[in-house]
Amino acid sequence: MPRLLVVHHTPSPAVHSMLDKVLEGAATPQVTGVELVSRAALTASPVDVLEADGYLLGSPANLGYLSGALKHFFDTIYYPCLNETARRPFGLFLHGNDDCAGALAAAAKITTGLSWRQISEPVVVTGAPSTEDLDRCWELGAVAAATLER
Ligand SMILES: Cc1cc2nc3c(=O)[nH]c(=O)nc-3n(C[C@H](O)[C@H](O)[C@H](O)COP(=O)(O)O)c2cc1C
Repeated sequence: MPRLLVVHHTPSPAVHSMLDKVLEGAATPQVTGVELVSRAALTASPVDVLEADGYLLGSPANLGYLSGALKHFFDTIYYPCLNETARRPFGLFLHGNDDCAGALAAAAKITTGLSWRQISEPVVVTGAPSTEDLDRCWELGAVAAATLER
């Protein structure tokens, strides 16, 4: 069964509310036969990545970049997964207080290096997530799951 791996750093309610919606969308009953696995970024391993077929990545913006936790995840998995995971689909959700540009650029650079294939526009939210923002998170999860459905 294809597996969707969600790797996230959720240190606060705002990012966590986005994660909850992403997971809810990914588990939509409209998509069947896709296994959903969620891992905190500081616990996710290269084996988790190798054993999955697609990825959803979530992080706050921290100091103009991705969170250290998601950067640590990429540092850990980059070379062990570089050859085997090329062209696999991924989606991204980010949250910041006012500016996610650096985090967005960093994620683009790293995932381009991995040759991962972006499935839809990243969901980037600044400030308190609105209902519409959370709907976009749900949609991101559902699209990711549908991408892996066989
Ligand atoms: C150390 C630190 C650095 C941060 N740097 C940024 C930043 O560069 N850009 C930004 O938009 N938000 C920044 N933030 C805000 C976080 O992105 C925000 O706290 C996080 O997304 C969770 O949102 P919440 O605190 O409203 O729940 C920073 C927060 C911390 C703790």
